[in-house]
This record gives sequence, C-alpha cells and structure tokens, in this order.
Amino acid sequence: MRDASPQTIYLKDYTPFGYVVEEVHLTFDLAPSATRVTSRIKFSPNPDATNKTFFLHGKNLSLIAAKIDGEAVKPKLTDEGLTCDVPNVPFTWEAEVQIDPAANTALEGLYLSNGMYCTQCEAEGFRKITYYPDRPDVMSTFSVRVNGPHPVLLSNGNPVASGDGWAEWHDPWPKPAYLFALVAGELVAHRDSFTTMEGRKVDLALYVRPGDEGKCAFGMQALKDSMKWDEDVYGRAYDLDVFNIVAVDDFNMGAMENKGLNIFNASAVLASPETSTDTNFERIEAIIAHEYFHNWTGNRITCRDWFQLCLKEGLTVFRDSQFTADMRSEPVKRISDVIDLRARQFPEDQGPLAHPVRPESFQEINNFYTATVYEKGAEVIRMLKTLVGDEGYSKALDLYFDRHDGDAATIEDWLKVFEDSTGRDLTQFKRWYSQAGTPRVAVTDSFDNGTYTLTFEQLTPPSAATPEPQAQVIPIAVGLLGPNGDEVLPTQVLELTKDSQSFNFPGLGAKPVPSILRGFSAPIVLEHTPDHAFLLAHDTDPFNRWEAARNLGKASLISAVTKGSAPDAKWLDGVAGLLIDDTLDPAYRAYCLALPGQSQLAADLHANGTTPDPDAIWDACESHRQALAQRASDALPDLYTRHQVHGPYAPDAEQSGQRALGNAALSLLTRLDSGDMAQAQFDGATNMTQQLAALAYLIRAGRGDAALAQFEAQWKHDRLVMDKWFGMQVIEAKPDDAADTAKALTKHTDFNWKNPNRFRATLGTFAAHHAGFHAKDGSGYTLLADWLIKLDPVNPQTTARMCSAFQTWRRYDAIRQSMIGKELERIASTPNLSRDTTEMITRIREG
Ligand code: PHE
Ligand code: ZN
Repeated sequence: MRDASPQTIYLKDYTPFGYVVEEVHLTFDLAPSATRVTSRIKFSPNPDATNKTFFLHGKNLSLIAAKIDGEAVKPKLTDEGLTCDVPNVPFTWEAEVQIDPAANTALEGLYLSNGMYCTQCEAEGFRKITYYPDRPDVMSTFSVRVNGPHPVLLSNGNPVASGDGWAEWHDPWPKPAYLFALVAGELVAHRDSFTTMEGRKVDLALYVRPGDEGKCAFGMQALKDSMKWDEDVYGRAYDLDVFNIVAVDDFNMGAMENKGLNIFNASAVLASPETSTDTNFERIEAIIAHEYFHNWTGNRITCRDWFQLCLKEGLTVFRDSQFTADMRSEPVKRISDVIDLRARQFPEDQGPLAHPVRPESFQEINNFYTATVYEKGAEVIRMLKTLVGDEGYSKALDLYFDRHDGDAATIEDWLKVFEDSTGRDLTQFKRWYSQAGTPRVAVTDSFDNGTYTLTFEQLTPPSAATPEPQAQVIPIAVGLLGPNGDEVLPTQVLELTKDSQSFNFPGLGAKPVPSILRGFSAPIVLEHTPDHAFLLAHDTDPFNRWEAARNLGKASLISAVTKGSAPDAKWLDGVAGLLIDDTLDPAYRAYCLALPGQSQLAADLHANGTTPDPDAIWDACESHRQALAQRASDALPDLYTRHQVHGPYAPDAEQSGQRALGNAALSLLTRLDSGDMAQAQFDGATNMTQQLAALAYLIRAGRGDAALAQFEAQWKHDRLVMDKWFGMQVIEAKPDDAADTAKALTKHTDFNWKNPNRFRATLGTFAAHHAGFHAKDGSGYTLLADWLIKLDPVNPQTTARMCSAFQTWRRYDAIRQSMIGKELERIASTPNLSRDTTEMITRIREG
C-alpha cells in the first residue's frame, strides 16, 4: 500500500529512545503463510531520554495479543507501528503477532526462498517480524527459540539446546535489531574450525542447499583467512563459539553481517572452478572478509542512527580492500577499486542523486546504501590514514575499539578518536563527510632557477545537496621524474587545504615531469595534461603508470569521437610495449589493455562541453580495439600461449593474472582470426574463466549461437551459471540488438524475474550496455521502465536501486532527454508506487 505522504527524516532531529531494552526473548512457530512470533521484552525507562512516548515499529503484522507485566493491553495501531501507555518503571512487554513469509517478495523481514526461511533486517526489516524499537541505538541481548520441522534451525549467537523440531539460541552480545537473523530449512553444512589468538575454538559452518556442497571450500578458506587477518592487522579476535554462513538464492544485496549468522546471496559465496570465474572468486573472498570484518566494525561498534551508515560501511570496505591488497596485489586492487569508484560513485556524486558520505536527510534509508556511502566512505578513511600515517592510524583504531566497544557511535566519535590520538585538528577534514560532489583539482606548474613550482586549484561543483562547497583537505601524493625518466623526487604527500595553493621543489637541475595523485591518493578529478606517454614509459608508481596508459587511451578515444581521428600511435605503442614487458604482473598488464568504460567517456565528453553520442563512442572503442589488435598482432599468439596455466586450477592472484592476460590476448586475437582460437578455447575449457571469456568473444565475433546453446545445455541446472548466460548475451550484443536481445531473454522460461540475481543479470546488465540502453529510438528506456514498473510492487528495494540507470540522463541530447523524461514520468505516475522508487525517481527528475 502506498505510504500516504512520504516523510523526510533529518539527522538534526535525532533523539534517544525513551526506553532501554534489557533483554529480548523471541519464539518463532514457523508456517509458510502464518508464522507466529511471540516476544517477551524487558524495558526500563531511559534516564537519558526526555521523550517517553512508547512507540514500537511494526509493519504488515497482525497483532494477536499484547501484555504488559502479564496484563492484556490494547495498544493504538498505525501503519508504522503502535503506541501504548506503559509504567514509569521497568516492565515486561509481551506480544504475539502473525506474519506471512510466503507472501514476502520484497525479501525484507522473514521470507521464504526456495522453501527455506531466512531473514533480512537491515536496515528496517525487523519491524516486519514483530513490534520493536527498530533503530540501531537500541541494543539488547537476544534469546531465540525456533519451532519448525526443518533439519536446520539457526539464529544469532551460540546454540543453547535443540531437539526434534526446535532449537534455542542465545546471543550474549547486545545488538540492534537490524543484526537479528533466523534461518530454517533443509540445508547441509560444510564445517571447519578456527582457534582464535585468545584460544577460543570456533566452530565454523557454511550452510547450503543439498547439491551445493562442492562449492563451499573456497568460501570457508576465505573466512579463515579473514579471521586470521583481522587478528594480525587489527588485533581483533572473534567473540562467539560458532560462526555460521548461509547461502540463499533470493537476496537483494551481496550479503549481510548478522551477528554470528551471516546470510549471503548465493552468488557471493558459492564457488567452484567449473562454475565461477576468477573475478567471482576474488569478489567472494572480499565479501566474506567484508561481512566478517563487520563483527567489529558494525556489530561490536554499531551506528547511532542510519545517517552514520558510513561509520560501519566506509570503514569495513576500507578494511576489506586492505585485506584483498594483502592477499593479492596492492596495485592491482587499487586500480580495480578506482575503476569501480569512477564507474559507480563519480556519476552519483556528479548527478542528481549526489549526497554527502554522511547524508543529512532521507525518505527511505534503503536508497542510501550507495557507492558514495560505501566506496567514497572508504576513500575518506584511506585519506585519513595517508594524513596521519600508518602508525597514527593504528593508534587511532586501537583507541576507537577501546573507547567505543559496545556503543552505537557517530562520525563525530570516529573523528574525535583520531584527534585525541594524533593531536590533529580534523575540523576541515570533516567536510568530506558533509559535502557532496567530486572536487576537481587543476594543476599548473613553472620552473625557475632550479625551483619547480606546482600550483593546485580545487573546485567542487555546487549541487542541490551542497550549494556552497568549501575547500577540502586533499592529500596529493606527488613524485618528480627527471627529463631522462629517472625519479628525482620520491613520493611525497602534499596537503592541499586552500582553494589555490603552490608548493615549491628547489634544487633541481632541469624542469621535471610531475607524477601527481600517485596511488589515487584522493577521490577527485585531476585536471592535468602532462606527457602521458612519458609517464607511461617511466613512472615508478604503478597506479600512475596505469593511469597514464588510460589517459592516453581516453584522449585518443575522445578525439576519435569529436574529430574522427585515428587511434593515437603513442597509445598503441605504449600499450603494446607494456603488453610484452614480462617484468610486469600479468594481471596489471591486462588492466593496462582495457579501455575506459563507455559511460565514463560520455561523462568526460559532457564535462568538456560535448554532448555524448553513444553510437560514436561505441564505434571509437571498436576501432581502438581493432587497431590495438593489429598493432600487437605479432606478439599476441605467443602472449596467449605463454599465459595458459598448466596443472591444477587455483583461484589465486598468480594464476588468475595469467588467465586475465591470456584472455585479454585472446580477445584481441578474435578480432584477427574471426574467432577460431576462441572456439578452440571454448571447446577445450575446463574452468568457467576460460569458458565464459571464450563465449563472450565468440558472440562478439558474430558466431556465438552454437556456443550459447551448448553452454545452456551444459548449465541449465545451475542458477548462478545461468545468470552469466543471461548477462553475457546482453552485454555482448551489438548496440542495435541489445534491447531486442534483453527483451527476448525476458520471455525465456528460466527468466524468473522475481529473483533479484536473474533480474539484475538481464535488465541490470542491459542498463550497463551504454550504446544499447541509449539506443536512438528510445526502446532501451521503455524496456527498462516497463520492467521497473512491473517489479516495483514485488520488490521495491531492487527496483529503486536500478532506477539509478537514469541518473545520467541530463548528459544526453534533447531528444534522448525528452524520451527519458517521459519514461521517468510514466514510472512516477504509476499508482501505488513504492516509497523507495518514488524517492529515487523524484530525486532523479528534480536534481
Ligand atoms: N550491511 C550489508 C553489507 O554491507 C549490506 C546490506 C544492506 C545487506 C542492507 C542487506 C540489506 O555488507
Ligand atoms: Zn557492509
């Protein structure tokens, strides 16, 4: 039902809840359409609160009975919860409610996924389970009894007792309701154990559906690696006797850090060489780490309110990226994070959905699980670490855990810890949390009498969220190279704090070439056109060397689009040179070969005052790839052969780097041999990384039909692999065919659109096909809008997230803008549109 009038919630309005929850007891009697939830909760008046209204959140609940201290009461019910008169002394609240998990397609609260019960409570899902103060600053211990005929009955914390048809759990660590979880079903466990540095033996289990047992080993190893890493690097040990992970097929996000019972989208945990690509393995390792790390950054120290979401997410993303860098390659991880940041966070920060890392208002909190909160939130912490140094960072983190363990904390608490432990004033730095927008930093230089001067000017474009941006603290890592390519000044961090600021480097024999923003030391747009080819040849900073290759390629693509020029020989020569430089990590070389994304090129064109033409961008990318294939043609066959892995498959950094470069070579070779080698790789593939890459190249070469049919026959029974099959056809379609391909796939019998993974694999992938989605006739816009309208009543969260496909609409020409505008209006005027989607569409239209 439509929420009468969407309410805006403000950070400045925060007040504590009037009551403290001392303990929570829950009993679940599971039945698909009529689950009974009985709660017994001890409340006492909160001495720190002035507002003593007893309001409990509750949504879609049928209240059967309520009691206070054993006496029946009649609370006042609304759409959002209930209020009740309560005594001014400690009391016990009891309620019995009935809920309908089978009808819960929104996948929030308690729901059924393939016959298995599971929960998703973050951010505000617990109120769909029972009446409760569903806010993160209300923390309590939980005791749970689950009654149900299932062999596996799980909840948070430690197991207490169990018997036929029931199990009891107790979580001794006070937690907010968003970390509650329950799972019941016919599941099998993959078990292991880990002994913490404190000597606690922890039983580990990964619960999956029968048939998926063979896909558990990698995730389990990743869990143990994460547990060890958090002890070694952050001094944080696990704190319960069990740690359980459950894989579910229907899930809106990647995974969820419920205390002691993480729930994962199956795609984020199940892995085998035959069914998962190297990229999948790396992502799974990172997500397992991420959820595990939340045990300290999120669970032991949680958020006071949802405005503080970046307190746990930014920090935990930062921690998981440190972990991946340690487990694999630091420069490669940095490059992949920056690609991701530019592809997902920059458009958000530079468009109508821009918001600060810590937003100050929202209508639907689910709409703020964004790249800005997560990825920019992590970048902000990375800058903080750069500014205070490694030692300062680790001292600050020790103090954070010491001071705030058990708290529901704020960004102010977080920054205070850094101020107290390092003595630094972070007043100006705090703007990173309160200002939206990506700062642009322009660089000029001069050389006079042996002194080199770099001048920086920062400017953050104003936005609705931040109409008057002020100067930020921007750490800029800089090195200088001499005219012969030798480094004359190793990396230094300059602290930019003013709108305009100069830095001098005296004592130089000749004018140097600067390497600026090494390691991407701040999430900004750098406006600087040095000699990219020179940096590509000589930069000692791996990130900036990759960046130089990318900048050369980008400049070449842009002049192809705007002036019709041929691919730049400097780019071709530079990349061809890197390709065969065996001193470089193959994974790194594969990244140097890749072109910037087409949507990002559109953004760059737009920023330079040119209206992007998606077809012209597509054509430029094609001609550049073709030219590179020709330029490197002599080296490619050998490069391909030398990067075939012999021996047993391992998803580690070394082997996956080899396969990445081998496949990059094959991709170019396919442009020269019209796909014969790709066909051979497809036919002989023994792992998904090679099978899927070959499939992509065959489709691209226009000869994918047989391989697609074969792939489907082979993998029909495997949902996760079939998601790839759906996605691959869409992303590899020619621009003119993409909408028809996606549309045809939505008619396939296996297009189960209520499953978020399948919906995203098909329509999410389509929205990511730049030239296909933006097809001139508007068919792409209509197709996506049709499906968003259809999905909204079923799953508002996934619908709302996907609306962001339209966030860049103002970049395009008047005809496309008018077509998109009409689709946005059509969505907005759909009767009973969810609060989630309404907020997103409104922001996109008005911003
Ligand atoms: N807190 C989860 C994470 O970052 C993400 C999530 C949010 C999952 C909301 C489900 C719902 O890992
Ligand atoms: Zn998280």
